[in-house]
Amino acid sequence: MKALPLKVPGFRLNNDVLIPAVGLGVYQMPNDAYTVKAVYHALKCGYRHVDTAMIYRNEESVGKAIAASLIPRDQIFVTTKLWNSDHGYDQTIRAFNESLKRLGLEYIDLYLIHWPVQGKRKDSWRALETLYSEGRCKAIGVSNYMEVHLRELLGHCRIIPAVNQIELHPYIFHSRFQTVEFCRENGIIPVAYSPLTKGEKLNEPVLLKLASKYEKSTAGILLRWALQQGFAVIPKSSVFSRIEDNLRVFDFSISESDMQLLSNLDENLVTGWDPDGTP
Ligand SMILES: NC(=O)c1ccc[n+]([C@@H]2O[C@H](COP(=O)([O-])OP(=O)(O)OC[C@H]3O[C@@H](n4cnc5c(N)ncnc54)[C@H](OP(=O)(O)O)[C@@H]3O)[C@@H](O)[C@H]2O)c1
Repeated sequence: MKALPLKVPGFRLNNDVLIPAVGLGVYQMPNDAYTVKAVYHALKCGYRHVDTAMIYRNEESVGKAIAASLIPRDQIFVTTKLWNSDHGYDQTIRAFNESLKRLGLEYIDLYLIHWPVQGKRKDSWRALETLYSEGRCKAIGVSNYMEVHLRELLGHCRIIPAVNQIELHPYIFHSRFQTVEFCRENGIIPVAYSPLTKGEKLNEPVLLKLASKYEKSTAGILLRWALQQGFAVIPKSSVFSRIEDNLRVFDFSISESDMQLLSNLDENLVTGWDPDGTP
């Protein structure tokens, strides 16, 4: 294995907690021994940030890998998320406790509302505030919140979300720009999910050309673009060599004109569900 960075840089959240700029996403990775190995491998390579969710149904495997790594708990940043069917104050507290148990942890670094479910999301946020005040999570935030949802939240919250995790890559950048700007104005760090377009665009000629210019993979180009935008990234891979590749993004930078070129590739490509239009 080629040498990898020992320490991944981070972004400072609005409560001073540091979020490692690159994390391993584990969506669609089964709750099995291979996933334990993949997460363990990532931790051994230098990853210190893992992004899971109740609905991914692999929190146990993530927890097992963390335990096996023997890395001190305070050096690993774990995100998990409240699923749509668990909204409401009491249900949120219960769901949080269950996630904690499955992960085998005593606290979560970042707990997110996965989706702006209409109806009970205000109560759910109050529960996140309680969990945060009790020190049971080090930071709280949201996911798939568009500007309209964030405005509503900022209108009633006691604690401003630390992050907003949304789909972000060049092929959706302009369509998400208003939400990104709103996050920036309010000190909310955008976390880019599906930063590799779920693999859909990795063979696009423009990316291949830049990859060859910077002597990086096309995945590396997409990740570096996001980092230079100020987004944390959580690429998913189950392949050891790609897990490593996705961390090799701190030894080069993309020029301003190439950043511009990438930022203009927008075609409103939504690779998952689109939260735009959710009331
Ligand atoms: N909050 C939300 O609603 C939400 C929604 C979606 C995703 N997420 C989070 O964001 C994470 C990442 O998003 P994602 O899983 O949708 O997609 P992604 O990270 O954009 O792309 C993953 C795909 O790219 C491939 N890949 C990864 N690294 C590669 C490389 N270096 N070269 C070539 N191919 C590579 C992977 O295949 P292999 O595994 O075979 O390498 C996989 O097919 C998720 O795992 C999850 O943690 C959150």
